[in-house]
Amino acid sequence: MEPVVIPAILAKSREELLRRISQVNGFVKEIQLDIMDGEFVPNKTIGIADLAAVPALKNVKYEFHWMVKDPEKWIVQMPGPHLHIVHVEAIRSFTAVENAVKKAGGRLGLAISPETPIEKLLPLAPEAQRILVMTVHPGFSGQKYIVAMEDRIRQLRRQFPSMDIEVDGGVNTETAAGAYAAGANVLAAASAIFAADDIKAALANLKKCALGGNPL
Ligand code: DX5
Repeated sequence: MEPVVIPAILAKSREELLRRISQVNGFVKEIQLDIMDGEFVPNKTIGIADLAAVPALKNVKYEFHWMVKDPEKWIVQMPGPHLHIVHVEAIRSFTAVENAVKKAGGRLGLAISPETPIEKLLPLAPEAQRILVMTVHPGFSGQKYIVAMEDRIRQLRRQFPSMDIEVDGGVNTETAAGAYAAGANVLAAASAIFAADDIKAALANLKKCALGGNPL
């Protein structure tokens, strides 16, 4: 599987959201929007009112990474063909989540935090279109990649050979190769992309490094 690099946007305001989207528009086919409610994680981003300003872009799909309590309540408010990545730790009723995604006309993804046993994800995983393995504790960008998570990426890749497996947290030109070699074909990154002077080059570098090359 070819590596796909996805910019992750953690925005504190509508202006920041729109600025970040415009910085990567034209260079990527997917954008991850990180949404935090200050309850599921100790950080808070923009909420639904500001998300309503997300522009529908030609050739770009959004994936929402819901780091929130009661994700089903958020999902139904974001109709459209989006990928809704829900944390297994936040699921109280899987049926309620599935129904919300269906009602919104989207697709379902499942995320797992580092401290959560993989067994919590495994029975639900076949229902997902994408699995997101967190390689930091969710809440903030700029944290250090937890290498030990590569074991669970390998296990998931063995069990789900054709699944999209995404890695998120601390992905940079040094860690991308390990994540990709372990079996993650989708790499989400925030700081490694947005802290760069040349965003297009940063995206290309991450892909190159995932494949075992050196950054330009
Ligand atoms: C962490 C978020 C990540 C984060 C990635 O809670 O889910 O998407 O923004 O940021 P970096 O790439 O800086 O680790």
